[in-house]
Amino acid sequence: MTTSPNCKTVLVTGATGFIGSHTVVELLEAGYRVRMVDNLCNSEASVLERIERIAHEHLTHDPKRLGFWPVDVRDSQALEALLASEPIDGVIHFAGLKAVGESFSQAPNYWDNNVGGTMALTQAMAKAHVKRLVFSSSATVYGQAASLPVSEDAPTQVTNPYGRTKLVCEQFLTDWCHASGDGQVALLRYFNPVGAHPSALIGEAPRGVPNNLMPFVTQVAAGIRPALSIFGRDYPTRDGTCIRDYIHVSDLARGHVATMAAMLGLGPHAVTSPDIEPSTQNGPIQTLSGLTVMNFGTGQGVSVQELVDTFERVTGQRVPTLDAPRRQGDVAELYANPQRAHTLLNWRATQTLESMCRDAWAWQSSLP
Ligand code: NAD
Ligand code: UD1
Repeated sequence: MTTSPNCKTVLVTGATGFIGSHTVVELLEAGYRVRMVDNLCNSEASVLERIERIAHEHLTHDPKRLGFWPVDVRDSQALEALLASEPIDGVIHFAGLKAVGESFSQAPNYWDNNVGGTMALTQAMAKAHVKRLVFSSSATVYGQAASLPVSEDAPTQVTNPYGRTKLVCEQFLTDWCHASGDGQVALLRYFNPVGAHPSALIGEAPRGVPNNLMPFVTQVAAGIRPALSIFGRDYPTRDGTCIRDYIHVSDLARGHVATMAAMLGLGPHAVTSPDIEPSTQNGPIQTLSGLTVMNFGTGQGVSVQELVDTFERVTGQRVPTLDAPRRQGDVAELYANPQRAHTLLNWRATQTLESMCRDAWAWQSSLP
């Protein structure tokens, strides 16, 4: 597909990371021009070349549709130079640190990176008159919700420094949006992103011991680790293990494209083309304005044991488990009410737990 003259340009921070890389692919497939920013503190530069391989048919005629800047978002000067170099229609801000456990011992670093980075980015955006921002927040801001499925209006309650940085960024961006008058901000609260691109060229690549369930499961299945510790079997849930809302990272990525399209006021057909997947042609049904908070989940609660059982069934791999004590700070059960995103964006997650497990395993199997 060639770039149309009115093709929109999106700056993506944290673009070589897990969710960022999948979103860049979906943006390219939907017809956008993309400017990637990442300081590579938790990802590899080789992700860029993998994105190019996946999206090669969209880049062949116009390689300039994709650009990469190895920049830290706290580097205001570099960001200002980038934003001044060409018109940017909107920013999707993934860059940040995300390990809950580490956020206790490295709290100042988390505040500097997550909050300082967000403030530096918005200052650079203001100078360049860029007013559309999509922000990666987390379901962690709900703590243990009093009623499930949890809606966006539920009270927030955070229990760790990582969660506090996300909540403070939400509050800052709410004020930033209102102060700017005509700014557009979307605060997206992700539930549990898992899976990988079906090409198995990009996926989640945790450094060291994985903190999250799915990468731990795939590493046990691959024989890298002997067994999965199940953190608690005594929760008040149907099988005693914790319940979460797992969402395929490609569904999540498409949700970001739908959010950006809705901010830009693009109708369902504004970025369509015969070589775009029909799923990405389901454009928004209304234009977003001002501040929008949305849950990005499937609405389905899945227990730790159910995830392990599904993984074993789909992949044919065994995942030995050990019963372990509860992990500090875990909530028993959390899953989304995703209705608002469906109403505003005409988007909903479509991929099954089976495909999340299959794609996560294909990605793990592709690694050296
Ligand atoms: P990730 O670590 O794979 O990606 C984040 C990227 O940001 C990395 O490539 C890292 O190198 C980059 N980065 C970090 N600090 C930076 C800085 N100061 N300047 C430039 N680049 C920087 O994480 P992810 O899973 O893709 O998460 C993306 C965002 O979504 C994060 O903000 C995270 O907090 C949020 N989030 C993730 C999850 C999840 O389960 N993965 C859940 C909820 C929210
Ligand atoms: C965690 C973070 C959350 C963050 C999200 C994505 C906490 C309290 N919450 O969510 O803030 O946004 O990751 O980075 O850390 N489990 C095991 N064994 C394991 C790993 C996990 O049993 O080895 C269980 C956990 O107890 C939990 C479930 O699996 O019940 C999912 O865990 P995880 O993938 O870490 O996600 P969350 O805890 O939901």
